Amino acid sequence: MKIILNGESINLDIDPETPLVWAIRDHIGLTGTKFGCGGGYCGACTVHVDGQATRSCITPLETVADKAVTTIEGLPDGADLHPVQTAFLEHQVPQCSWCMTGQMMTAAAFLAENASPNEAEIVSAMGQNYCRCGCYVRIKAAVAAAAEMMQEDA
Ligand code: FES
Ligand code: FES
Repeated sequence: MKIILNGESINLDIDPETPLVWAIRDHIGLTGTKFGCGGGYCGACTVHVDGQATRSCITPLETVADKAVTTIEGLPDGADLHPVQTAFLEHQVPQCSWCMTGQMMTAAAFLAENASPNEAEIVSAMGQNYCRCGCYVRIKAAVAAAAEMMQEDA
């Protein structure tokens, strides 16, 4: 079956029920997408499927056939980091970093839908992505900063 990963068409000859996270990590070799709980709870494995934040650990490969999948490796625009990535760096958000690609993919999908969120909307949008290092204050600040950057660039 074929998926479109980070703008590139890729044919995969594997079990169509393979969770997307393992197709991406083990078969394609992009390891930016992380595996956490494996049950759809933590958000570490979040990617975009047709622009929607999607938990790749509970998404069978067959359900994304011919859809556009974006991972953290595909989030930058060429050499330019996505504003969410820039803001997470500038705010020195990560501690161990395991949850961070999922955090950034969730934030990017959210800001694509809501360009000028208030604090409560940011907290709600990010509330189902868990960070065992407890970086929540910096995550919230970075998402707000990314929104400001995107408004300035618009
Ligand atoms: S690893 Fe997918 S939601 Fe936790
Ligand atoms: S930075 Fe360690 S789990 Fe979030």
